Amino acid sequence: MVALDGPSGTGKTTVARKLAERLSAGFLDTGAMYRVVTLAGLRAGIDMTDAGAVTAIARDAVFTIGTTPVRPSVTLAGEDVSAEIRGPEVNDAVSPVSAVPAVRELLVARQRKIIDGVLAEVGGIVVDGRDIGTVVAPDAPLKVFLTASPEVRAARRSAQDTAAGRESTPAEALASVDRRDRLDSSRAASPLRAAEDAVHLDTSDLGIEQVLVALTELASRRGLLHCAAEVTQ
Ligand code: DC
Repeated sequence: MVALDGPSGTGKTTVARKLAERLSAGFLDTGAMYRVVTLAGLRAGIDMTDAGAVTAIARDAVFTIGTTPVRPSVTLAGEDVSAEIRGPEVNDAVSPVSAVPAVRELLVARQRKIIDGVLAEVGGIVVDGRDIGTVVAPDAPLKVFLTASPEVRAARRSAQDTAAGRESTPAEALASVDRRDRLDSSRAASPLRAAEDAVHLDTSDLGIEQVLVALTELASRRGLLHCAAEVTQ
């Protein structure tokens, strides 16, 4: 298992997905789980500052998270919401949702179950989030903490928004990235921080392929290549 943590805009999710493909492993985007719960709350029209109401949504919403790296779809009440969970409404509302301790408890339990299932079935998994190396899977054999300068992260977020057909200038993206970083790092429950034994990788000056080469090398040194093949043998 590979735990990939770091702030938004470091390329974490893209890199995690591609690394999983390369390792023939499963993939879990834990941010998508906080996002789908947020979308469910917005759709239900609840008061998103009401921790009890948000927790009830996290407990009762019917959602699925795909774990195949090629097409990891996210559904809510049977509808594919993979694109909608990346929209501006969810971007603006997700950090406070992820700061509610009871929501984290529910989702962390579900993440551990998914991880165990994929490890048993596929033999390996790459998991990306904020607290994977510290809380969800502190025994992961490889933990990586990805960083990048705020300007680079904002530029990446803005490019992603534009590619998805949403207007976003780098200045707006920087403000949004900054705001979420502050919320994610300062919350009381599992704030964003690197595990003590995490390998730090600054991706500011690296393209996706270079990050992947570095991660594959790290995985290889930990004996994590060909994990799927070992299980099926
Ligand atoms: O990685 P992302 O941008 O999709 O994450 C969405 C939000 O969820 C972000 O505010 C951080 C939070 N999150 C979290 O608190 N813990 C995780 N394991 C993953 C995401």
